[in-house]
Amino acid sequence: MKIAVMGHGVVGSGVVEVFYQHYESLTRKSGKEMDIKYILDLRDFPDSPYRDKFIKDFSLIENDPEIGIVVEVMGGLHPAYDYVKACLEKGKSVVTSNKELVAAKGAELLHLAREHNVNFFFEASVGGGIPIIRPLHLCLAANEISEIAGILNGTTNFILTKMIREQMSFADALKLAQELGYAERNPAADVEGQDACRKICILVSLAFGRHVYPEEVHTEGITRITLEDVAYAGSWGGVIKLIGRAKRLEGGKVSAMVSPAFIHAGSQLASVDDVFNGILVRGDATGDVVFYGKGAGKLPTASAVVADVVEAAKATGSSRSLNWEDGDGHTVCDWQETVSVFYIRLKSAACQKELVKQLFGEVKPLHRDGQPQDEAAFVTGEILEKDAAAGLEQLKAAGAEVLGCIRVLDY
Ligand code: HSE
Repeated sequence: MKIAVMGHGVVGSGVVEVFYQHYESLTRKSGKEMDIKYILDLRDFPDSPYRDKFIKDFSLIENDPEIGIVVEVMGGLHPAYDYVKACLEKGKSVVTSNKELVAAKGAELLHLAREHNVNFFFEASVGGGIPIIRPLHLCLAANEISEIAGILNGTTNFILTKMIREQMSFADALKLAQELGYAERNPAADVEGQDACRKICILVSLAFGRHVYPEEVHTEGITRITLEDVAYAGSWGGVIKLIGRAKRLEGGKVSAMVSPAFIHAGSQLASVDDVFNGILVRGDATGDVVFYGKGAGKLPTASAVVADVVEAAKATGSSRSLNWEDGDGHTVCDWQETVSVFYIRLKSAACQKELVKQLFGEVKPLHRDGQPQDEAAFVTGEILEKDAAAGLEQLKAAGAEVLGCIRVLDY
């Protein structure tokens, strides 16, 4: 079984390293003699011990009948999508860590893999080294999944942890995450929430059986979170985390959102720190199951990719359970019609107490050390998203400055 690895960045080099480090046990576990024949990358790696395997021309992989498994770890949509599609059409199984690709084209590529009796595997696309894709469609197969919520992005969790525990600035923490190889090539995808959005789309598509596209999921990142918000979350009894979540609704629709949120200190997700991810899956038979581990980084991600390579080598046909139908773009309900609880921080001379009560009902005031006289913070009761947004507009019209608005979740 000959393998081609497309991409020799952080994850790609980790895949080659893990593959040869565990070569003997992988051969035993797969029952196949495997080897990496090609590594595709436009750059030169003259000092690599694998320099003889490097190629720059994708057609060598596409047209080589010896290649049975192709690992795509280039990232991005193009040319990854074009290459993956071509490989599946040639009857080669594909293993990828590329969440952008799976979130945008998963239904189509899974369909293509079935048509050609091969596999399209993507365990590494969600949760880095955490097994979550296979547990969802195999180990939890006896459940109807009603809800998934998780810390799905290592970079933002690393940044928030540094802000919470070390009062580190957002910019310094992001720089450190980039140096450690956690961040995307363009870290905007991390800090603006798109990476977590792609991952919740993959999980919900698999769990609920219909493709949910990133454009359907309301997404907010962590760029507006301040150390003051962190302090108020602490006084409330919790921490701020970037949470991707989805819930099955009656009538076939789902609610889905990615946003920062106050999470109570007692929640299992609250203690998921640094680059770790935590994913809570609610099944009707199991109740809550929580998956925890390193969500980013070279070797954890490579671990998931190489395990998929072993599964692809062992497989005798396409997986039946790793599967979902195409979506119609209307699977997700209108997020503004959903309810939430909010933490709101205001700056205003009189702190608009009466107006706050009128707009949000009884609220729970919060306090922090060093709180200026003209600053107020509170937590609302449950309120429709659209009503909360309208309330904030009215506060602004009355002269208040909205310094922070973060959802409060109960996981
Ligand atoms: N940038 C991603 C993260 C990498 O920080 O989680 C793993 O998908």
